[in-house]
Amino acid sequence: MAVEMAVTLGSLRLKNPVMLASGCCGYGLDMESYLDLNRLGGACLKGLSVAGSEGNPPPRIWETQGGMINAIGLQNVGTRRFIEEKAPRLRGYDTAFVANFYGHTVEEYVEAARQLDAEPCLAALEMNISCPNIQEGGIHFGTDPAMVHAVTKACREVMRKPLWVKLSPNASDVVAVARAAEEAGADALTCINTMPAMAIDVERREFRIWNKIGGLSGPALRPIAIRIVYQVSRAVKIPVVGIGGVATANDAIEFLLAGAKAVQVGTALFADPQCPYSILDGIEAYCERHGFLSVEALIGQIKDPGPRPGCHE
Ligand SMILES: Cc1cc2nc3c(=O)[nH]c(=O)nc-3n(C[C@H](O)[C@H](O)[C@H](O)COP(=O)(O)O)c2cc1C
Repeated sequence: MAVEMAVTLGSLRLKNPVMLASGCCGYGLDMESYLDLNRLGGACLKGLSVAGSEGNPPPRIWETQGGMINAIGLQNVGTRRFIEEKAPRLRGYDTAFVANFYGHTVEEYVEAARQLDAEPCLAALEMNISCPNIQEGGIHFGTDPAMVHAVTKACREVMRKPLWVKLSPNASDVVAVARAAEEAGADALTCINTMPAMAIDVERREFRIWNKIGGLSGPALRPIAIRIVYQVSRAVKIPVVGIGGVATANDAIEFLLAGAKAVQVGTALFADPQCPYSILDGIEAYCERHGFLSVEALIGQIKDPGPRPGCHE
């Protein structure tokens, strides 16, 4: 039985549902010696800003039980250098490259979106809203539905390509944030970014990470991400992309059953850069075993008993 692996996210068709996550594959080129990018559904590239950033001093990564904490500090070459130096090498590929971007003001987001939207090698743009808004006292954009609405709408107005909004697990009401992004014109939602976290070296009584606080990723994040994908995919009409601790086919299938149309693989790439291949093979085998003719037929197919008392969905 041949399983149809392609999935559609609005106007964008991915050849399969497995993508690489932003920050874990550089600008795609870093993965060339490990993976044939053309075999993947796509790759989300390292977060870009107009001004670029040197990132934080080391230590920037700490491995913890069930995952890792990172505070890279959004190091990036800036949108112009990306377009001039990196993008030309991506143009020959037949996969969906998605540029992840951020800013510290609405204007910075809009300028990054405007520049990246003109780059032909990109299939879509993914907006990272887990950043402080320096005009609003440093409140993170992604925690406030009104700010998410404003920044999404402003970027949508200067873009033609699909706009994905990447949600933060740190929002107190992530469904309200998701609805705000949809209302403002987002074409898809990526769930989720890392969770703020900290680790301490007790002998030295020092922080493990220079920035003190970093973002937790990996398997420890997955149950939170699954819950958010389930809640958000039922609350909006636009597609949801699941991300957080995907390392195996079963992890990916869990996201698909919860309602994600595609998944992204991040931290797992550091241990096994070729794991996207086994994830793809495993999804296909699962579909065959369970009689699903396509991956699309699997999406959201958790046997849902409906509302439970005390379960606030
Ligand atoms: C080293 C590192 C760098 C990251 N950089 C970015 C980034 O630039 N933009 C972004 O939106 N997410 C970034 N992320 C978050 C990941 O894309 C992803 O949302 C998160 O790590 C959860 O997925 P995972 O458990 O599969 O890693 C980064 C994660 C890691 C581990």
